Amino acid sequence: MIQLTVNGKKQQFDGDPEMPLLWYLRDELQYTGTKFGCGMGLCGACTVHVNGKAVRSCQTPMSKAANQTITTIEGLSASANHPVQQAWRDHNVPQCGYCQSGQIMQAASLLKEKPKPTDADIDAAMKGNICRCGTYQRIRAAIHQAANGKQASNTKGGK
Ligand code: FES
Ligand code: FES
Repeated sequence: MIQLTVNGKKQQFDGDPEMPLLWYLRDELQYTGTKFGCGMGLCGACTVHVNGKAVRSCQTPMSKAANQTITTIEGLSASANHPVQQAWRDHNVPQCGYCQSGQIMQAASLLKEKPKPTDADIDAAMKGNICRCGTYQRIRAAIHQAANGKQASNTKGGK
């Protein structure tokens, strides 16, 4: 039996320990904000936090999630008000949106490690998160805003 904590709740799993964490999050716990993109560790759409660090959940077997603390986009903040989420709204970052929960989780992990990242730090940390809509410039601007601790004015993105 695998025990783990997901978004603050204790969970138990007694299925195949080789099953990807992504399947468990989406299909069993219904945390569908985390997306399946490539299934091969190449796109970053499935990024979640394990003990606060960004990982690719498609490449993480349940055995590696045992006794770990997992956070998905649904658990990043109580009411979608993490500084990264606020900055994302201010900059209207998403286009189709498919890659964006992975982008946000990767950016939040970066800012935890490097509260004031340079452009080079951002490029290095975010390079594995692919956006086919090409929102990279807005992503970079939003990360800088989140790093600078500005409150979201939120005039463009609705509530
Ligand atoms: S779905 Fe995991 S990296 Fe693409
Ligand atoms: S917003 Fe469409 S893939 Fe990134």
